[in-house]
Amino acid sequence: MSGGRWQDETDLGAVVVTEKELMQRVAELGAEVTADYADRPPLLVGVLKGAFVFMSDIARAIQLPVEVDVMAVASYGSGTTSSGVVRIVKDLDLDLTGRHVLVVEDIVDSGLTLSYLRRNLLARQPASLEVCALLVKEGRQRAKLDLRYVGFHIPGQFVVGYGLDVAERYRNLPDVRLYTGPVRVD
Ligand code: IMP
Ligand code: MG
Repeated sequence: MSGGRWQDETDLGAVVVTEKELMQRVAELGAEVTADYADRPPLLVGVLKGAFVFMSDIARAIQLPVEVDVMAVASYGSGTTSSGVVRIVKDLDLDLTGRHVLVVEDIVDSGLTLSYLRRNLLARQPASLEVCALLVKEGRQRAKLDLRYVGFHIPGQFVVGYGLDVAERYRNLPDVRLYTGPVRVD
C-alpha cells in the first residue's frame, strides 16, 4: 500500500494494482518462468527505464542462473500519448545469438514499442524470444502481440508507479495508480 508520503499527491488517482498484488503475481510469474526454462536458463532483457523495478523483482523470483542485460528505448516524450516513434537509446551489451531471451517489459499500450523490439531482437538470432509484460492495457493494441507472460490486464488509462513514470516522476511509488494530473508535453 502507498505510504503516508504519497497521500498528499493530488495528481494520483485510484490504486489499480496494489503492492501486495504485484508481489504475489511476480512470485507466480517467477515460478512459471522457472518451470518453463529449467533446461535452458534465460537471458533477461529489461526494457529501461520503466521495467527496472519489475525486472529486479522477477529476476529474484526466478530460481535459475539467469543472466541480465538492459536496453533503453524511447517511444514517448514527456507527455502521456504515444509518439509512435521508437528508438534505441541504449543497446544491449551481450550478443543474443543462440540465447534464450526473455524480454521484461513494464507495460504494453499501443504495442508499438514491443513490435519494434521483437523485430529488432529477432534479427540478432536468439535461440528463442519470449515476452514477459507486467501490465497490458485493455483494448489499446492495434496488432496481435504474442505475449508469453502477462502480469495484469488493466484499463486503458495512464498509470504510474512500480517503475512507471510521468515526466520521470512516481517511479518509486510502490503500487500502480492512475495518474490524474495535467498532461505534460515538454
Ligand atoms: P506502447 O509502445 O504504446 O505500447 O508504449 C509502451 C511504453 O510507453 C511503455 O514501455 C512505457 O514506457 C510507456 N507507457 C505506456 N503506457 C504508460 C502508462 O500508462 N504509464 C507510464 N508509461 C506508459
Ligand atoms: Mg517501457
